[in-house]
Amino acid sequence: MNAGSEMGEQIRSWAPGRVNLIGEHTDYAGGLVLPMAIQLGTTIEGERTDGSIRLRSTTQADEVRFDLPVDDPASITPAWGRYVGGVAAGLQSVAGLGVGGLDGEVSSDLPAGAGLSSSAALEVATAFALGAGDSLDRAAIAELCQRAEQVATGVPCGVMDQMASACGVEGHALRLDCSTGEIRPVPVPDDVAIVVVHSGQTRELAGSEYGDRRSDVEAATAIVGPLRTVTSLDALDAIDDPTVRRRARHVVTENARVDAFADAIAAGDLVLAGTILVAGHRSLRDDFDVSTDVLDALVDSLVATDGVYGARLTGAGFGGCVVALCRPGVDPTPPGHRSWLVRPSAGAALS
Ligand code: GLA
Repeated sequence: MNAGSEMGEQIRSWAPGRVNLIGEHTDYAGGLVLPMAIQLGTTIEGERTDGSIRLRSTTQADEVRFDLPVDDPASITPAWGRYVGGVAAGLQSVAGLGVGGLDGEVSSDLPAGAGLSSSAALEVATAFALGAGDSLDRAAIAELCQRAEQVATGVPCGVMDQMASACGVEGHALRLDCSTGEIRPVPVPDDVAIVVVHSGQTRELAGSEYGDRRSDVEAATAIVGPLRTVTSLDALDAIDDPTVRRRARHVVTENARVDAFADAIAAGDLVLAGTILVAGHRSLRDDFDVSTDVLDALVDSLVATDGVYGARLTGAGFGGCVVALCRPGVDPTPPGHRSWLVRPSAGAALS
């Protein structure tokens, strides 16, 4: 058992999903991101046990059951148990930290596969339920959960989603510097509504595209050094491969957009903030090649809607959701699309 936890102790952990306002495909490049935890999340209720993990889910048909310690989390079935097993395996590997068992139920009001990081919420809720908060700070929990995600999915994701879920601050987005780990909460103004609209295209991250983009960014970094430190686009002329050069241009310009966007909302200039979102979308479309015709059409239609300051694809791309910055009271959702009015929420909690 973990220090401070007892057999039979009742626990309830909750962890939020996230929406990324701007700073896309920059986390694994040591860049800047500006996600916010949202009010929708995943709850685990149950009791601490010993020797095994057993979780039922209100949204998944099959329960997860495995003995501790976990040998190979990637082979757990049903597949949703891999996120749970990945977290347990990560905790086991933290020196001196035993992993107690758990018997409980998972419930969530986060839509799965929509790009709102339901998997990060499950990982972070699991980590807190297993007592990670007794020994690790929130950033370390996020990093452990990032590794769990990588193990569970085989996708070499960055740390943004788990950081937002673990470290969210009520009323704020988080400006996260992925090269230093510095987290700066940025107040989200009251006079703005943030609406997430599903494109209807299911995102499939397990494909090789995400890893390909990450490889392109690493190839660029090998030539010009950390992209976070590149201040002039001229420096990218040293990259011969035009595709790799475009990937790098996205990362460099996106890092600048994160601070420009944070400054714009701090100054209450929502019109400027909206134009920065649209510029971010174009960069993801033209330089990073992670948009789709469906996402582009949705962004165009939202931006043309009265009361919308700007919109862009959010998350990894290849489908999933668009985030729109709107005047309060405006619902820009086109007919036939699912959408969520999201609020900046605090991070994970254990009670
Ligand atoms: C996914 C990953 C994140 C990040 C985004 C793109 O959400 O999990 O780490 O790379 O894609 O910004």
